[in-house]
Amino acid sequence: MGDIAEDETTFYSNAEVYWKEVPPTVDGMLGGYSSISSIDINGSKAFLKKFLGEEEGKTSTGCALDCGAGIGRIAKRLLLPLFGTVDLVDVTQGFLDKARVYLGEDGKKVGNYICEGLQDFVPASGRYDVIWIQWVIGHLTDDHLVEFLRRCQKALRPNGLIIIKDNVSFEGVVPDEVDSSVCRDLKTVHGLVHSAGLRILHEEQQKNFPKEIYQVHSLALR
Ligand SMILES: C[S@@+](CC[C@H](N)C(=O)[O-])C[C@H]1O[C@@H](n2cnc3c(N)ncnc32)[C@H](O)[C@@H]1O
Repeated sequence: MGDIAEDETTFYSNAEVYWKEVPPTVDGMLGGYSSISSIDINGSKAFLKKFLGEEEGKTSTGCALDCGAGIGRIAKRLLLPLFGTVDLVDVTQGFLDKARVYLGEDGKKVGNYICEGLQDFVPASGRYDVIWIQWVIGHLTDDHLVEFLRRCQKALRPNGLIIIKDNVSFEGVVPDEVDSSVCRDLKTVHGLVHSAGLRILHEEQQKNFPKEIYQVHSLALR
Protein backbone atom coordinates (compact mmCIF):
# COMPACT_ATOMS: atom_id res chain seq x y z
CA MET A 1 0.00 0.00 0.00
CA GLY A 2 2.85 2.33 0.94
CA ASP A 3 4.40 1.53 -2.44
CA ILE A 4 1.25 2.39 -4.36
CA ALA A 5 1.01 5.72 -2.55
CA GLU A 6 4.66 6.41 -3.33
CA ASP A 7 4.24 5.47 -7.01
CA GLU A 8 1.24 7.73 -7.21
CA THR A 9 3.11 10.64 -5.65
CA THR A 10 5.94 10.13 -8.14
CA PHE A 11 3.49 9.82 -11.06
CA TYR A 12 2.08 13.27 -10.24
CA SER A 13 5.31 14.98 -9.23
CA ASN A 14 7.13 13.78 -12.38
CA ALA A 15 4.34 15.23 -14.53
CA GLU A 16 4.57 18.55 -12.68
CA VAL A 17 8.32 18.68 -13.21
CA TYR A 18 7.86 17.83 -16.91
CA TRP A 19 5.25 20.53 -17.59
CA LYS A 20 7.20 23.21 -15.68
CA GLU A 21 9.93 22.91 -18.34
CA VAL A 22 7.61 23.08 -21.34
CA PRO A 23 7.48 26.47 -23.13
CA PRO A 24 4.13 28.27 -22.61
CA THR A 25 3.19 28.20 -26.31
CA VAL A 26 0.63 26.39 -28.50
CA ASP A 27 3.47 24.19 -29.71
CA GLY A 28 4.33 23.38 -26.07
CA MET A 29 0.68 22.47 -25.34
CA LEU A 30 0.58 20.13 -28.35
CA GLY A 31 3.98 18.46 -28.08
CA GLY A 32 5.26 20.14 -31.23
CA TYR A 33 2.03 19.69 -33.20
CA SER A 34 0.82 23.31 -33.22
CA SER A 35 -0.09 22.72 -36.89
CA ILE A 36 -3.09 20.60 -35.82
CA SER A 37 -4.54 23.21 -33.45
CA SER A 38 -7.00 24.68 -35.95
CA ILE A 39 -8.24 21.27 -37.11
CA ASP A 40 -8.71 20.34 -33.45
CA ILE A 41 -10.59 23.53 -32.54
CA ASN A 42 -12.84 23.36 -35.63
CA GLY A 43 -13.67 19.72 -34.89
CA SER A 44 -14.48 20.62 -31.27
CA LYS A 45 -16.67 23.54 -32.34
CA ALA A 46 -18.74 21.31 -34.63
CA PHE A 47 -19.02 18.66 -31.88
CA LEU A 48 -20.03 21.12 -29.14
CA LYS A 49 -22.49 23.10 -31.26
CA LYS A 50 -24.68 20.01 -31.67
CA PHE A 51 -25.64 20.41 -27.99
CA LEU A 52 -25.79 24.18 -27.39
CA GLY A 53 -28.90 26.32 -27.68
CA GLU A 54 -31.80 28.01 -25.96
CA GLU A 55 -34.44 25.39 -26.78
CA GLU A 56 -35.74 22.87 -24.25
CA GLY A 57 -33.15 20.21 -23.43
CA LYS A 58 -30.22 22.09 -24.98
CA THR A 59 -27.09 23.11 -23.09
CA SER A 60 -26.85 26.79 -22.17
CA THR A 61 -23.82 28.99 -22.76
CA GLY A 62 -23.44 30.70 -19.39
CA CYS A 63 -20.29 29.23 -17.91
CA ALA A 64 -17.64 26.73 -19.02
CA LEU A 65 -14.64 25.15 -17.29
CA ASP A 66 -11.43 24.35 -19.18
CA CYS A 67 -9.62 21.51 -17.35
CA GLY A 68 -5.87 21.14 -17.87
CA ALA A 69 -6.27 24.43 -19.71
CA GLY A 70 -2.56 25.15 -20.12
CA ILE A 71 -2.11 28.62 -21.67
CA GLY A 72 -5.78 28.70 -22.68
CA ARG A 73 -5.49 27.43 -26.26
CA ILE A 74 -9.01 25.95 -26.09
CA ALA A 75 -10.44 28.75 -23.95
CA LYS A 76 -9.31 31.35 -26.47
CA ARG A 77 -10.67 29.87 -29.66
CA LEU A 78 -13.47 27.54 -28.55
CA LEU A 79 -14.90 28.41 -25.13
CA LEU A 80 -14.54 32.19 -24.71
CA PRO A 81 -16.28 32.97 -28.03
CA LEU A 82 -19.24 30.75 -27.05
CA PHE A 83 -19.68 31.20 -23.26
CA GLY A 84 -20.36 34.17 -21.00
CA THR A 85 -17.73 33.11 -18.46
CA VAL A 86 -14.88 30.60 -18.62
CA ASP A 87 -12.82 29.28 -15.69
CA LEU A 88 -9.38 27.74 -16.26
CA VAL A 89 -7.78 25.08 -14.08
CA ASP A 90 -4.27 23.71 -14.53
CA VAL A 91 -1.50 22.38 -12.30
CA THR A 92 1.18 24.55 -13.96
CA GLN A 93 1.19 28.13 -12.63
CA GLY A 94 3.46 29.35 -15.45
CA PHE A 95 0.84 28.39 -18.05
CA LEU A 96 -1.93 30.24 -16.23
CA ASP A 97 0.33 33.29 -15.95
CA LYS A 98 0.84 33.12 -19.70
CA ALA A 99 -2.90 32.69 -20.28
CA ARG A 100 -3.55 36.13 -18.76
CA VAL A 101 -1.50 37.61 -21.62
CA TYR A 102 -2.32 35.09 -24.37
CA LEU A 103 -6.10 35.46 -23.98
CA GLY A 104 -5.88 39.22 -24.53
CA GLU A 105 -9.21 41.08 -24.61
CA ASP A 106 -11.15 37.80 -24.45
CA GLY A 107 -9.53 37.19 -21.08
CA LYS A 108 -11.97 39.70 -19.56
CA LYS A 109 -14.56 36.92 -19.63
CA VAL A 110 -12.40 34.59 -17.52
CA GLY A 111 -13.98 34.09 -14.12
CA ASN A 112 -11.23 32.22 -12.26
CA TYR A 113 -7.69 31.05 -12.95
CA ILE A 114 -7.24 28.04 -10.67
CA CYS A 115 -3.83 26.44 -10.12
CA GLU A 116 -4.51 22.93 -8.82
CA GLY A 117 -4.17 19.30 -9.87
CA LEU A 118 -7.45 17.81 -11.11
CA GLN A 119 -6.91 14.96 -8.63
CA ASP A 120 -7.55 17.51 -5.84
CA PHE A 121 -9.71 20.12 -7.54
CA VAL A 122 -13.36 20.39 -6.50
CA PRO A 123 -15.36 22.35 -9.09
CA ALA A 124 -18.08 24.56 -7.59
CA SER A 125 -21.36 22.73 -7.32
CA GLY A 126 -23.91 23.53 -10.05
CA ARG A 127 -21.75 26.20 -11.74
CA TYR A 128 -20.99 24.88 -15.22
CA ASP A 129 -22.89 24.34 -18.48
CA VAL A 130 -19.87 22.68 -20.06
CA ILE A 131 -16.79 21.11 -18.48
CA TRP A 132 -14.12 20.60 -21.17
CA ILE A 133 -11.38 18.05 -20.35
CA GLN A 134 -8.87 17.73 -23.18
CA TRP A 135 -5.50 16.01 -23.35
CA VAL A 136 -5.18 15.67 -19.58
CA ILE A 137 -7.05 12.51 -18.41
CA GLY A 138 -3.85 10.47 -18.92
CA HIS A 139 -2.31 12.45 -16.06
CA LEU A 140 -4.84 11.05 -13.56
CA THR A 141 -4.85 7.58 -12.04
CA ASP A 142 -7.99 5.51 -12.75
CA ASP A 143 -9.39 6.11 -9.26
CA HIS A 144 -8.71 9.84 -9.37
CA LEU A 145 -10.23 10.14 -12.84
CA VAL A 146 -13.42 8.42 -11.68
CA GLU A 147 -13.62 10.61 -8.57
CA PHE A 148 -12.91 13.76 -10.58
CA LEU A 149 -15.67 12.90 -13.08
CA ARG A 150 -18.11 12.37 -10.20
CA ARG A 151 -17.26 15.82 -8.85
CA CYS A 152 -17.69 17.26 -12.34
CA GLN A 153 -21.17 15.75 -12.58
CA LYS A 154 -22.14 17.58 -9.36
CA ALA A 155 -20.73 20.80 -10.82
CA LEU A 156 -23.06 20.75 -13.86
CA ARG A 157 -26.03 23.04 -14.33
CA PRO A 158 -29.27 21.53 -15.73
CA ASN A 159 -28.59 20.09 -19.22
CA GLY A 160 -24.87 20.58 -18.60
CA LEU A 161 -22.26 18.45 -20.35
CA ILE A 162 -18.84 17.02 -19.62
CA ILE A 163 -16.68 16.65 -22.71
CA ILE A 164 -13.60 14.45 -22.71
CA LYS A 165 -11.39 14.80 -25.79
CA ASP A 166 -8.24 12.71 -25.66
CA ASN A 167 -5.84 10.26 -27.24
CA VAL A 168 -6.87 6.61 -27.27
CA SER A 169 -4.59 3.64 -27.76
CA PHE A 170 -5.49 0.67 -29.97
CA GLU A 171 -5.27 -1.76 -27.08
CA GLY A 172 -4.39 -1.59 -23.41
CA VAL A 173 -2.90 1.17 -21.30
CA VAL A 174 0.30 2.64 -22.71
CA PRO A 175 2.53 4.49 -20.24
CA ASP A 176 4.53 7.55 -21.28
CA GLU A 177 7.60 7.87 -19.05
CA VAL A 178 8.54 11.23 -20.57
CA ASP A 179 5.57 13.30 -19.39
CA SER A 180 4.42 10.77 -16.74
CA SER A 181 1.03 9.92 -18.20
CA VAL A 182 -0.86 6.96 -19.65
CA CYS A 183 -2.84 6.51 -22.86
CA ARG A 184 -5.90 4.28 -22.38
CA ASP A 185 -7.86 2.39 -24.99
CA LEU A 186 -11.48 3.30 -25.62
CA LYS A 187 -12.84 0.30 -23.73
CA THR A 188 -10.93 1.37 -20.60
CA VAL A 189 -12.12 4.98 -20.90
CA HIS A 190 -15.73 3.78 -21.30
CA GLY A 191 -15.35 1.63 -18.19
CA LEU A 192 -14.07 4.55 -16.09
CA VAL A 193 -16.78 6.88 -17.37
CA HIS A 194 -19.45 4.36 -16.44
CA SER A 195 -17.87 3.79 -13.00
CA ALA A 196 -18.27 7.52 -12.44
CA GLY A 197 -22.01 7.12 -13.08
CA LEU A 198 -21.94 9.04 -16.35
CA ARG A 199 -23.80 8.27 -19.57
CA ILE A 200 -22.22 8.69 -23.00
CA LEU A 201 -24.54 10.86 -25.10
CA HIS A 202 -22.35 11.03 -28.17
CA GLU A 203 -18.89 10.04 -29.33
CA GLU A 204 -16.78 10.94 -32.36
CA GLN A 205 -13.28 10.41 -33.65
CA GLN A 206 -11.45 13.59 -34.64
CA LYS A 207 -10.81 13.48 -38.38
CA ASN A 208 -7.85 14.76 -40.41
CA PHE A 209 -5.16 14.39 -37.76
CA PRO A 210 -1.70 13.14 -38.84
CA LYS A 211 -1.54 9.36 -39.22
CA GLU A 212 1.44 8.94 -36.88
CA ILE A 213 -0.30 10.23 -33.74
CA TYR A 214 -2.82 8.48 -31.49
CA GLN A 215 -6.46 8.51 -32.53
CA VAL A 216 -8.35 11.24 -30.70
CA HIS A 217 -11.93 10.73 -29.53
CA SER A 218 -14.48 13.18 -28.15
CA LEU A 219 -17.11 11.96 -25.66
CA ALA A 220 -20.10 13.97 -24.50
CA LEU A 221 -21.17 12.85 -21.03
CA ARG A 222 -23.65 13.66 -18.29
C1 LIG B 1 -1.04 18.30 -23.42
S1 LIG B 1 -1.30 19.78 -22.45
C2 LIG B 1 -2.93 20.20 -23.02
C3 LIG B 1 -3.34 21.61 -22.72
C4 LIG B 1 -4.74 21.99 -23.21
N1 LIG B 1 -5.77 21.10 -22.71
C5 LIG B 1 -4.76 22.01 -24.72
O1 LIG B 1 -5.33 21.08 -25.32
O2 LIG B 1 -4.21 22.96 -25.31
C6 LIG B 1 -1.59 19.07 -20.81
C7 LIG B 1 -1.90 20.10 -19.74
O3 LIG B 1 -2.29 19.40 -18.56
C8 LIG B 1 -1.71 20.01 -17.43
N2 LIG B 1 -1.68 18.99 -16.37
C9 LIG B 1 -0.86 17.93 -16.25
N3 LIG B 1 -1.18 17.21 -15.16
C10 LIG B 1 -2.23 17.83 -14.57
C11 LIG B 1 -3.02 17.57 -13.40
N4 LIG B 1 -2.77 16.51 -12.63
N5 LIG B 1 -4.00 18.42 -13.10
C12 LIG B 1 -4.25 19.50 -13.89
N6 LIG B 1 -3.55 19.80 -14.99
C13 LIG B 1 -2.55 18.97 -15.34
C14 LIG B 1 -0.37 20.51 -17.91
O4 LIG B 1 0.13 21.53 -17.10
C15 LIG B 1 -0.73 20.98 -19.33
O5 LIG B 1 -1.15 22.31 -19.31
